Amino acid sequence: MSIRNRPLSIRNRPLSIRNRPLSIRNRPLSVNNRSLSVVEGSEVGNVIKNQHPWIFRNNFNNAPNLPKLKNGNWVYFLDETGKHLGIGIYSHIGLIAVRMIYFGDNFSLGFFKNLIKKKLSSRLPLLRETNSLRLIHGENDSIPGITIDFHNDVLVFSIYSKSLYPMARYIGFVVYNFLTLHWNLDVSCILLKKPNRTEDQFLENSDYRVIRGKIHTQVEINFKKITYTINTLSQKGGIYNDIRNLRRYILENSEVFKNRNVLNLFSNNGLLSKCLEVAGAKSIVSVEDSVSALNIHKLNTPNSEKQKIIKGNIFKNIEALLEEINQVFDVVIIDPPSLTSSSKDKRKAKLIYQKLMESCLNVMSNPGILVMCSCSNRIHSNQFENIAQEVFKFKKVEYKKPIKLLNEIDHPVIDTFPEGDYFKVHIYTTGQ
Ligand SMILES: C[S@@+](CC[C@H](N)C(=O)[O-])C[C@H]1O[C@@H](n2cnc3c(N)ncnc32)[C@H](O)[C@@H]1O
Repeated sequence: MSIRNRPLSIRNRPLSIRNRPLSIRNRPLSVNNRSLSVVEGSEVGNVIKNQHPWIFRNNFNNAPNLPKLKNGNWVYFLDETGKHLGIGIYSHIGLIAVRMIYFGDNFSLGFFKNLIKKKLSSRLPLLRETNSLRLIHGENDSIPGITIDFHNDVLVFSIYSKSLYPMARYIGFVVYNFLTLHWNLDVSCILLKKPNRTEDQFLENSDYRVIRGKIHTQVEINFKKITYTINTLSQKGGIYNDIRNLRRYILENSEVFKNRNVLNLFSNNGLLSKCLEVAGAKSIVSVEDSVSALNIHKLNTPNSEKQKIIKGNIFKNIEALLEEINQVFDVVIIDPPSLTSSSKDKRKAKLIYQKLMESCLNVMSNPGILVMCSCSNRIHSNQFENIAQEVFKFKKVEYKKPIKLLNEIDHPVIDTFPEGDYFKVHIYTTGQ
């Protein structure tokens, strides 16, 4: 089935005025197809059977056609009788050789349009309380390697491999049209960003490219009546929205935080600290190492007597930092970056979580509240709970079973991709 002569380029087009659709027809989704036979029971066959989105390069040990594939080729997998099993996009670099974009034998571009429409519609309830959300969450939305965030009027695309670029542009069109036509939103800028963790060095030594419109790096977003400026070129497009569940918890349970002294470790742009202030916390000490994140935090909380913002390398100097701060806290929040890029790192990650927690318990009142967050995808929720249990036991601190926050609807998890179940927020109350 040919997918040539179908949509794509967003170049050479003026920035559309509001509500003018970008025409998808008559624009080529110019990709080349290759077919590959799959033996039932082979590693590749099993990946496709289980509908996992990744086929690793070493899964292909015995595939004779693999060397003929070129970066960005769409690979049509066929069984021994010639029946179509699915379609993936080949990447010539990185551990993942093919990202599966379709399972089955009945593909048309309409499939993507319907999929995207369904995914975007599922986010609709969020728009009532925020204008900053993840529209497409890669593998977890069955669109591997591509994430799309929306902040006020800026669309930020991230692709994990150059091979995905044509498809990302096509999806970009569909998303853009949906936002402007169905949701009646303005889109003044489309950015393409290279995520930090990619082995594919595209975008000519730059971290981003403006695909459309004029870049404005500082964008005002809102969440539950709080307005906040973010920098779209910073980490994660300027905001970690997976932790919106904790921001929501804080604002909806303000009695828990009212008049409390809070320590917020790894505070990034400070929106969480702002939520604590709005919830009535007495004081909030935030510690973060990224200068751009700290600057955004300061920009958003000028003249606040409740916010103390500290630059520090927490992994290296936690004890010294806490000694210098010299305060006892009623609430401590710990949200480090991912500590496991491979399963080899699990042991080391466990020790780091334990060290952080132990140090914090030394400066936390009892009774108190400890919020343990983890975005390390190799450490499952129960294992993360066990890590904390060991420390409580070692420190002889009584605690209640944690409240485990659910994922936000723009950070879904699917059964066929357990790796995508990465984010955990466990809230412990200590004391009797
Ligand atoms: C998962 S994010 C935290 C998100 C944050 N809790 C929020 O509300 O948006 C991890 C943060 O840790 C910061 N970080 C990474 N290494 C650090 C270090 N050694 N010391 C302090 N902060 C660090 C990163 O800059 C990033 O902002």
